[in-house]
Amino acid sequence: MTHNIPDESVVRNAPLFSALDDESAASLRASMTVVKVAKGDTLFKEGDDGDRLYVVVDGKLKLGTSSGDGRENLLSILGPGEMFGELSLFDPGPRTATATAVTDAKLLALANDQVIGWVTRHPQVSLQLLGRLAQRLRRTNEVLADLVFSDVPGRVAKALIDLGTRFGVQKDDGLHVNHDLTQEELAQLVGASRETVNKALADFAGRGWLRLEPRAVVVLDYDRLAKRGK
Ligand code: CMP
Repeated sequence: MTHNIPDESVVRNAPLFSALDDESAASLRASMTVVKVAKGDTLFKEGDDGDRLYVVVDGKLKLGTSSGDGRENLLSILGPGEMFGELSLFDPGPRTATATAVTDAKLLALANDQVIGWVTRHPQVSLQLLGRLAQRLRRTNEVLADLVFSDVPGRVAKALIDLGTRFGVQKDDGLHVNHDLTQEELAQLVGASRETVNKALADFAGRGWLRLEPRAVVVLDYDRLAKRGK
């Protein structure tokens, strides 16, 4: 198996790998298995037993939870280099969210017992993982505060800026954000109805801040949009 094939270079900066030297990183990579999912596939469901964590090599996934009456909330959209599936390992219990492929995706999986082996032998790996968990808690606190203190247009603006920071490509006419999400999914991400989110998007488009495209937006006035999401 080739360990450093170019499309996996992004994984080198993932929390599990970033603190390791090349030799250890190659050895860690060798203990991981490649998992491929097609757009729409569910990798695991909320409530399942968790036996491994994942790092995204290529593509996008969504992490979601659903309420008893079937409403869905999206916790996060993940792209290349991001890790998930570790909560059920460090806090033993069922999976806390459902992971679904938003696009075709390639992942690397590491079995729980292997993760434990790596973190006990390499304290710097534990520090990276702690850093990532702390970052996530910080972000979750912010999302919670926004749900209480911000209006829906503010949350939509902030979500677009966040997606733009992670997935955007700057071109002559603006920042192209191919988020690959339907308007329903965008609404689930900001915790609002599709109608309210559509209205906010149409308002932003009317002001010339962005251009709407299927499963994408082109941000034309980044500063105004960012200010609205503050
Ligand atoms: P696990 O519970 O094993 O499976 C679902 C995964 O979703 C979980 O591990 C975390 O990796 C991830 N996850 C859970 N909650 C959040 C959140 N609030 N933000 C980002 N990722 C999350």
